[in-house]
Amino acid sequence: MKRDLVSIFSLSQDEIDHLMEMATVLKAKQKEGVSHTPLKGKTLGLIFEKASTRTRVSFEVGMYQLGGYALFLDFKDMQLSRGETVPDTARVFSRYVDGVMARTFSHETIEELARHATIPVINGLSDLLHPCQILSDIFTVTEKMGGYGGLKVAYVGDGNNVANSWINCAARLNFHLRLACPEGYGPDPSLLERARRESATEIQLVHDPYQAVSGTDVIYTDVWASMGKEDEHADRLRDFRDYQVNSRLVKAAKAGVLVMHCLPAHRGEEITDDVMDGTHSIVWDQAENRLHVQKAILEWLMG
Ligand code: CP
Ligand code: NVA
Repeated sequence: MKRDLVSIFSLSQDEIDHLMEMATVLKAKQKEGVSHTPLKGKTLGLIFEKASTRTRVSFEVGMYQLGGYALFLDFKDMQLSRGETVPDTARVFSRYVDGVMARTFSHETIEELARHATIPVINGLSDLLHPCQILSDIFTVTEKMGGYGGLKVAYVGDGNNVANSWINCAARLNFHLRLACPEGYGPDPSLLERARRESATEIQLVHDPYQAVSGTDVIYTDVWASMGKEDEHADRLRDFRDYQVNSRLVKAAKAGVLVMHCLPAHRGEEITDDVMDGTHSIVWDQAENRLHVQKAILEWLMG
């Protein structure tokens, strides 16, 4: 039976651990210059309804390195944008390619693609979730800290797709997650409720960023206005003013705290230059690891 990657919540802890192990091996092989081409002759369709740098490049390069081929498709140029249905698109893709990655506004578009395609569907970000990002982030944390047992993560900022995927990941891997979001900008309440109901993990929602970062191993942030929310930018600048990851906030955490950001960053808004470029920041390793984890996901689903 084909598998999809639409949400981290639909993976088991064993499956996530397996992906982490695969990514470790794939990263080592790449660093040693060892060729590994299990996807020779396979193709991946990439559908983008929103902008991307990291996701597009890491999926395209990842497919190439695994011996396959990736086909970039701008949503605007597809018949989807002229009314062809998502199920029909899924059926047609299933006759041409071996997998599809989609980045969309509506999360339902990705779920619908997955329901109607007979090939694996990967969520490359929707308004609700960004699973590939957080799988890659937990890989980076594991690499830096030696594991995720007993991990404490503080997410500071908008309760968006990235925050929602952190909730799913914490529920699956049982680490402690504290989110500090302004009033009215919290994560998806049904995801939070499900995570609390179906796991023993402690997931706390607070309003004070200083409370969130106290004793944490990781401070994580993301943009205040995600793609699709640009028209709220001015209001958000005001509402998120106290949620900036700056040196004062970092000093309030543990001495060795790691600072992460999925990127792209709006420097001077959710994160200051000195923190982003400072000694606590691991954002470039984090960005690189998208490639290694994406390759693990591709080999797992399509190999
Ligand atoms: N972090 C991330 O998904 O980056 P892109 O939007 O550049 O793909
Ligand atoms: N939350 C951000 C993530 C970008 C990778 C957005 O959706 O725009």
